[in-house]
Amino acid sequence: MSLIPRDRAARRLRTRNSSPLKEIPTVKARDGIGGTLAFKRDQLAFLGGGLERHGDIFRFRLLGLPMVMVNHPDYIRHVLVDRGEQYDKDAVLFKVVRPVLRKGLIANADMELWRRQRRMMAPHFTPRTVGAFARNMTDETVRMLERWERGEGARGAGGTLDVTDEIGQLALRIVNRSLFSADVSESAQAFERAFGEANSILGAFFRFPFPPLGVPTPRNERLRRAINDMDAFVSGFITQRLREDTPAGEEADLLTLLLHSVDEEDGKGMDLEQLHHEVLNICIGAYETTTNTLSWAFYLLANHPEVEERLHAEVDQVLGGRVPEFEDLPKLSYARMIAEETLRIYSPAYQFMRRAREEDEIDGHRMPAGTNVLINSYFLHRHPDFWDDPERFDPERFTPERVAARPKHAYVPFGSGHRICIGKHFALAELTLVLATVARTHRLVRPAGTPDVHPEALITLHPQGGVHLRPEPRS
Ligand code: HEM
Repeated sequence: MSLIPRDRAARRLRTRNSSPLKEIPTVKARDGIGGTLAFKRDQLAFLGGGLERHGDIFRFRLLGLPMVMVNHPDYIRHVLVDRGEQYDKDAVLFKVVRPVLRKGLIANADMELWRRQRRMMAPHFTPRTVGAFARNMTDETVRMLERWERGEGARGAGGTLDVTDEIGQLALRIVNRSLFSADVSESAQAFERAFGEANSILGAFFRFPFPPLGVPTPRNERLRRAINDMDAFVSGFITQRLREDTPAGEEADLLTLLLHSVDEEDGKGMDLEQLHHEVLNICIGAYETTTNTLSWAFYLLANHPEVEERLHAEVDQVLGGRVPEFEDLPKLSYARMIAEETLRIYSPAYQFMRRAREEDEIDGHRMPAGTNVLINSYFLHRHPDFWDDPERFDPERFTPERVAARPKHAYVPFGSGHRICIGKHFALAELTLVLATVARTHRLVRPAGTPDVHPEALITLHPQGGVHLRPEPRS
């Protein structure tokens, strides 16, 4: 408790127009929601309780650190866009994942290095340039469907496949063919295993905080092994490419493009260590997020035959039986709306954080310097002021008219502002093309009596136990 009487403390805080700033309401252990312990037990229940009790902004402490959750589109625009430069990534969440992601774009808090890297990499991720990778997306999906046709892959009860595992391998094949022009069928599973291990160890950090990686605890040893396995996966491809010294021509893959990228300001490229970190960040950024989204999308389609039917009608009408191409994307609008609605309900990168570099004001509240600001799109995407009946799966929410009628920052599956996902166009193309390619020939069916799948809040929002469905040819 503060030793300064509240009214005196409030008088000290004056805004420019000299009206006093409000303190952000605080979740306290005794208020029925609980404190840090409750967060550790079930973070979604804890945060949901905080929002119910205090509204769209509240404060709590986690592992002794000051945290503020913001859950209103205006607050989110403020933190990510309007005052984006004042909120950096030196926040606890990124400190937790930095041993894995290191100096790559995702968790980089060194703004100068980040700006240079983003300048060099952004031209390879525009809506037009990702078109070069569309064939990888559809070819690999067709190959997956052919394997299903041959009955490959371990089948569970009712002839089901572990769709999350299947799609995980597909997402890795797509990103690695785009990055390295390589077939990663053999090594994909080792990467998946290593990533899964790191995701669950890091995801449990707030429940079971552990010492820095240098301290040889059993958990750190497992994490270190997982990082080594992911590093070996990436460096194998980079070493081979350096031996081949491929020129950056028309058909260049992303690795070649990144190897040949130079910064417009100093004319220099990135060193090999930085390249390694960026490639690993792309693999991680592209793998789990798309895997989870597609797994949930097939689960939702299996539960909503009326939506599936409309998807089939669109695919049949637009494609007339052929495999989709990049140029078909504008016509596959319903498939894209399904992807967007899935990203609303089960936003895989559901939490991100910033640190307030200096004291700030949000909607008349004082945001102290050094606060960790938490944005959680699981809740934002269910905010009752912006989403009717938020648990209902309804792709119609994403018609152009309804999107235009909503505040832009009520929906941030890819973040916003200068740190917005660099892979957003790659991801949206991939989600739409994979959905259309599968829907062209197959349905994924949920056998009667199989249990519901629930989200598991790790570093990403993962379908707990994976999605298990039975593929059936459409006749
Ligand atoms: C459904 C798919 C995806 C989702 C939901 C997603 C989500 C996100 C989000 C929310 C952020 C911003 C985090 C923040 O502001 O703190 C982000 C950043 C990033 N994502 Fe994605 N992502 C997806 C796919 C991809 C793909 C396909 C790639 C690469 C090809 C990728 C690479 C990255 C990178 C490198 C960053 C860091 C950008 C920066 O700070 O400059 N992501 N992603």
